Amino acid sequence: MSRSRFDRTADRYAESARRRNWDDLVAWCEPRPDDLVLDVAGGTGALAAALAGRVAEVTVSDVSEPMLAHVHAPARAVVARAEQLPFPDGSFDLVACIRSLHHVDSPTRALDEMARVLRPGGRIVIEDFLADPDPDRARRWEEIERLRDHDHRRLLGAGEARSRLLADGLTVDAEEQWVERRDVVRWLALADTGGEAAKRVRELIGGPEFQITVARARFRRPVDDGAP
Ligand SMILES: C[S@@+](CC[C@H](N)C(=O)[O-])C[C@H]1O[C@@H](n2cnc3c(N)ncnc32)[C@H](O)[C@@H]1O
Repeated sequence: MSRSRFDRTADRYAESARRRNWDDLVAWCEPRPDDLVLDVAGGTGALAAALAGRVAEVTVSDVSEPMLAHVHAPARAVVARAEQLPFPDGSFDLVACIRSLHHVDSPTRALDEMARVLRPGGRIVIEDFLADPDPDRARRWEEIERLRDHDHRRLLGAGEARSRLLADGLTVDAEEQWVERRDVVRWLALADTGGEAAKRVRELIGGPEFQITVARARFRRPVDDGAP
């Protein structure tokens, strides 16, 4: 199988993920000392490192072995596709999936799997970039993302993850959105995009920076969800 962008750029990604401030996201996860946590498509384990000492155990699952090679004990690394998690039903108190759903082949299947492995009373925290509500701008942005990174799949629309998790029997605890700025040159370097593709991305963006909306939500599985 060919190496993914993340296989090729794992060291660079690990450095950038380490520099991110995880405090706000950790607070959103509402960590508890007895929590068993799963970080789906958790990459280099930066969230796991930020949760260390606040929860009982963190498992980081991802398809990329080079990314998982950066996960440090006590966190546990497991090679797995988000769409087929190798864990029994109801085995985690907290499931996170951070800035990864837009890389996953089937986000719907991945969300169903996250809901399946969550125990009653447990939380799911999802964070990702959002598709532009305007279809033409959204299409143009998808073209840019794929030029930058062949492993980009698609940005989800507002409320898409929510609808799926509600259908899976969860409730919404909290949601927020904000806009982030990105430096185009650094963004291209992080994905190791060069040559003609990088040139075309710079032309299409047409400036040194761009803005993108990030959405974060916390969902909960009711303690008694009527399941037999
Ligand atoms: C942008 S990184 C985010 C990593 C981490 N969540 C973070 O915030 O630092 C996306 C990750 O998704 C992983 N990935 C892509 N498709 C996947 C899939 N189908 N199942 C599991 N992991 C996947 C990639 O290998 C990569 O590590």
